[in-house]
Amino acid sequence: MRSARASSGWKCARIRAKVLAAQAGERGGPADARWLARATAWVAEVAPDWEELTGRVPPARTWMPLVDEPDLQGWLICWPSGQARALHGHDGAAGALQILRGGLDERWAPRPGAPLTPRRLQSGICYCFGPEFLHAVGNSQTEPATSVHFYGRAVAVPPAMEVAGAGAGDAMAVVHPQLV
Ligand SMILES: [Fe+2]
Repeated sequence: MRSARASSGWKCARIRAKVLAAQAGERGGPADARWLARATAWVAEVAPDWEELTGRVPPARTWMPLVDEPDLQGWLICWPSGQARALHGHDGAAGALQILRGGLDERWAPRPGAPLTPRRLQSGICYCFGPEFLHAVGNSQTEPATSVHFYGRAVAVPPAMEVAGAGAGDAMAVVHPQLV
């Protein structure tokens, strides 16, 4: 069921995202991951859980825009159980993400060709990354996950591009930028 608290949280989150978009020109450029981390954490303070907001869990990974400006893009994303994205970069943008509910499994590398490191992304912690960062992310748990994402400039929708060749040492190659 939809919750009034979640609707109010969504409105607050969008207002904060607009404030951040207005301030985006003051940061240290589109690759300023620390600024994006602070921005993400500030919005995540008020952003709602997806299921509370919409009254349902979608069958596939689904997202709603918080802000979509040339120098700042933000999303609320729902990750139902079993949903994952293959290894991908972010169209050369720095970014940050924070999980509001549930958790996600990630394999990441700071740049193409670097070894992939697995880790568990936990709720309440803000993770930021630079323009060359790439990762594979999925929800292997039974509980759906909700996350807030911000990117230092507008990137292809969704805010990531699939990468050909998941193995270390493969050159980054964009396969398709379409929705997953
Ligand atoms: Fe990503």
